[in-house]
Amino acid sequence: MAANNQTQRYAHIIGWGKYAPPNTLTNDELAKRVDTSDAWIRERTGIVERRIATKETTATLALYAAQDALEVADIDPKEIDLVIVATSTPEYVFPATASIVQDQLGAENAGAFDLSAACSGFVYALSVGAGMIRSGQHNTVLVIGAETFSRIVNWKDRATCVLFGDGAGALLLRGSPHYGGVLSTVLGSDGSGSELLIVPAGGSKNPASLETVMNNMHTVKMNGREVYRFATRVMVDATKQALQKANVPLEELDMLIPHQANARIIDYAAKSLHLPPEKVFQNVEHYGNTSAASIPIALVEAIEAKRVHPGDHLVMVGFGGGLSWGSCAVQWTIPTVTRPMTPQRAAQSRLRYRWSNFKSFGHRVLRRVDSGVSKVLDRLEGENNGNGA
Ligand code: UT7
Repeated sequence: MAANNQTQRYAHIIGWGKYAPPNTLTNDELAKRVDTSDAWIRERTGIVERRIATKETTATLALYAAQDALEVADIDPKEIDLVIVATSTPEYVFPATASIVQDQLGAENAGAFDLSAACSGFVYALSVGAGMIRSGQHNTVLVIGAETFSRIVNWKDRATCVLFGDGAGALLLRGSPHYGGVLSTVLGSDGSGSELLIVPAGGSKNPASLETVMNNMHTVKMNGREVYRFATRVMVDATKQALQKANVPLEELDMLIPHQANARIIDYAAKSLHLPPEKVFQNVEHYGNTSAASIPIALVEAIEAKRVHPGDHLVMVGFGGGLSWGSCAVQWTIPTVTRPMTPQRAAQSRLRYRWSNFKSFGHRVLRRVDSGVSKVLDRLEGENNGNGA
């Protein structure tokens, strides 16, 4: 549905959800695989455990988070105009993971695309989604960050495999003429640092070959120290810039939701911004770095911990491969107490998604039948034309 373009519009967050695979990998378990220790990982990163997908994929993680966001907002998937999935670990090179999620959700009226900006991806996607709403192009946008980094880390490289985890988070945005929601966004990029955090193969520069596989070029390579230096600088600057653009003084910031890569980076930013611990959300200890999923998962946990209230000013700030960074100032506008999930609502929701799956299956079968029948018809038509000649 296109929004009325005549009045100023704001993108409000009306739904939120997260999903992390239940399978947990602790530091001690990792220490049995590579030359590391629980003490080293805790001290240098703050990470204690991370979630690792088993049978889940990026699309299924994204779907579960999105379903929760729709439950909170209590809206029909058909009302969604656009689905954006921020990810560096898509289901395929193409089609977009967002298209798979759109289909499985039953978001029949939505466009869908993936957005690639590494760990800054969610803030970039939020910025695009909010911009679509502000411009009047769309009214209801689903923004998801979803990752399965466990599928692209080198499990023999202790410098990277201890850092990452899997998960997804989703926010539902809706247009409103009332002030609030996403107030400002700041996006940045410095491609001169592109080699500092990279998966070197699988793209057009180094297409998959026996050699790329043998040389482990399809896994994450990182210069940790350089990324660390970059991160501490941009987190502080980007947070200040988003607040300034939104005309919100730093003293009125109620909660910083930073990208969860390393507790030391978060602590450094908090200290530089003179923010007390209660104004900075941290959950890196339980998830590790879930890349584009880390900010929405952290926001949802902050809401669940009752640390977000109507009227609060929030900043979400991310950084990562590109090098890229982004921040976004938000005024929270709606109550965070969600309706209890009654057995009736749960059943209704299960039925809705089963029906979507069934319809999707039906469309696939029909497409095959249609293709087969069309071939037969074309052949018959060709024969008839031949006979008539
Ligand atoms: O989303 C954005 C993605 N990335 C990041 O945000 C990462 C930013 N960087 C970091 O968080 C940190 O640089 C790391 C956590 C990756 C590394 O911490 P560090 O304090 O910068 O360690 P380092 O790379 O300087 O390595 C110190 C030592 C080295 O040994 P030597 O050369 O001093 O003998 C490493 O080989 O620690 C060694 N080391 C390990 N030791 C035990 C590296 N990884 C491990 C490990 N266990 N897992």
